[in-house]
Amino acid sequence: PVLVVDYGAQYAQLIARRVRDAKVYSEIVPHTLSTEQILAKNPAAVILSGGPASVYAEGAPRVQADLFETGVPILGICYGFQAMTQALGGEVARTGLREYGSTVVTADGGSRSLLAGTPDSQTAWMSHGDSVRRAPQGFDVLASSAGAPVAAFADESRRLYGVQWHPEVRHSAHGQAVLENFLRRGAGLGQDWTTSNVIEEQVDRIREQVGSDRVICGLSGGVDSAVAAALVQRAVGDQLTCVFVDHGLLREGEAEQVERDFVAATGVRLHVAREADRFLGALAGVTDPETKRKIIGREFIRAFETAERDILAEASSRDERVRFLVQGTLYPDVVESGGGEGAATIKSHHNVGGLPEDVEFELIEPLRTLFKDEVRAVGAQLGLPAEIVGRQPFPGPGLGIRIIGEVTGERLALLRRADAIAREELTGAGLDTEVWQMPVVLLAEVHSVGVQGDGRSYGHPIVLRPVASEDAMTADWSRLPYDLVARISTRITNEVEGVNRVVLDVTSKPPGTIEWE
Ligand code: XMP
Repeated sequence: PVLVVDYGAQYAQLIARRVRDAKVYSEIVPHTLSTEQILAKNPAAVILSGGPASVYAEGAPRVQADLFETGVPILGICYGFQAMTQALGGEVARTGLREYGSTVVTADGGSRSLLAGTPDSQTAWMSHGDSVRRAPQGFDVLASSAGAPVAAFADESRRLYGVQWHPEVRHSAHGQAVLENFLRRGAGLGQDWTTSNVIEEQVDRIREQVGSDRVICGLSGGVDSAVAAALVQRAVGDQLTCVFVDHGLLREGEAEQVERDFVAATGVRLHVAREADRFLGALAGVTDPETKRKIIGREFIRAFETAERDILAEASSRDERVRFLVQGTLYPDVVESGGGEGAATIKSHHNVGGLPEDVEFELIEPLRTLFKDEVRAVGAQLGLPAEIVGRQPFPGPGLGIRIIGEVTGERLALLRRADAIAREELTGAGLDTEVWQMPVVLLAEVHSVGVQGDGRSYGHPIVLRPVASEDAMTADWSRLPYDLVARISTRITNEVEGVNRVVLDVTSKPPGTIEWE
């Protein structure tokens, strides 16, 4: 693999994604690994990521100088570039002057190396305080910018490279070309990471892990759990039973859709657990988002335990228990739940940080290293229908985290209706796949005055949160056509009793997250 050494979670993930876009397998490793541990992973190349620290900050992560003696091709990016400079005896100036955002980088005119095939002057996304003043011995300076006298360098003989800017972000016009130059020219790597390889590898791994034991898989109706289930089914066939927990926090038609589409596509054995009372009971009186998430995470496990007993009884199985639980956990879930080295907990995704301590199942998480779009590609290759693979993401905690305030049956019914209208109109306008996701949120504890019919109303607002995103790590709000927004608004306020206002969320992520809780 190409190892991306993580000096700051978000950057490392994006780099890994871009490397995979170039059809080269990549893995993220913590910066605390020693050179020996890195070599033990047999890396085809190493990329040192950017990160929030200054190389001069106390306790700033270092890179061991002997890593550069190993002969492994290495690319340093931003912080990684500076750490590399420092380790190899170059000079990093402690300017404290920040260069932030789009910047023009000018190529030096000499060897193009990393910059082959890119223009002399290109826009690059920078985010740095310190800068490299003098390249280490043996390196050619390839480019500079106003704030960075040495913005890129290369030592071809040792296959060591570095850039001050972030080639992994889309705002860097030729970023992908720079990364590919490193991978192909620098490291001599071909294009062999494909969805078929992912499937093969996962199927083997799952078979090995599961042996002859029984497995259950929670289906949420979303893309991830469906793809995870299909993968496990391919690996162990009948040892798998899918469990669909109807927690009462679903959208309109959701349960029916899972029963119909998914089973039809895969022929998988399905157990439906009707557990709305359990979840609503546990959520009564709760308004804090993290508490809700933890409760939902816990009740999912309790529901699986009940299902386990039912499944074993139904199958009159002699097995005492179901040993494994499959979850459709994705890589961004892991990182955002604080699983990445040094990353802050933003929110506890129900299937990661929201799990109770006493889970007795062993977890199988075949998508744990994949990004959303990769999961879709795997699903399509496994033969799942477009209605499943192309669906907008829907969070496991469901409408429970889209009601701001206490979750009650009445509020759920109201939100379900509003959501169904919004989805219907979005689909009608042909935008349901173009818009990455559109949560519909009920502000259950806010009232505003309206005039409806001939009288005063005092109802709740509904928030539309359409977003454009690639992998849910960052997002922008979608510029929906105003006519469409108007239709959704009119219909919701006319058709959903208790709602007298519809508002549009125009916040990107960051600073907002996609969901409101
Ligand atoms: P946020 O709100 O963190 O959401 O920007 C990023 C993406 O993750 C989805 N999401 C979840 N998915 N379990 C899930 O399976 C969860 O607990 C969960 N929380 C958020 C969210 O819908 C968006 O697509």
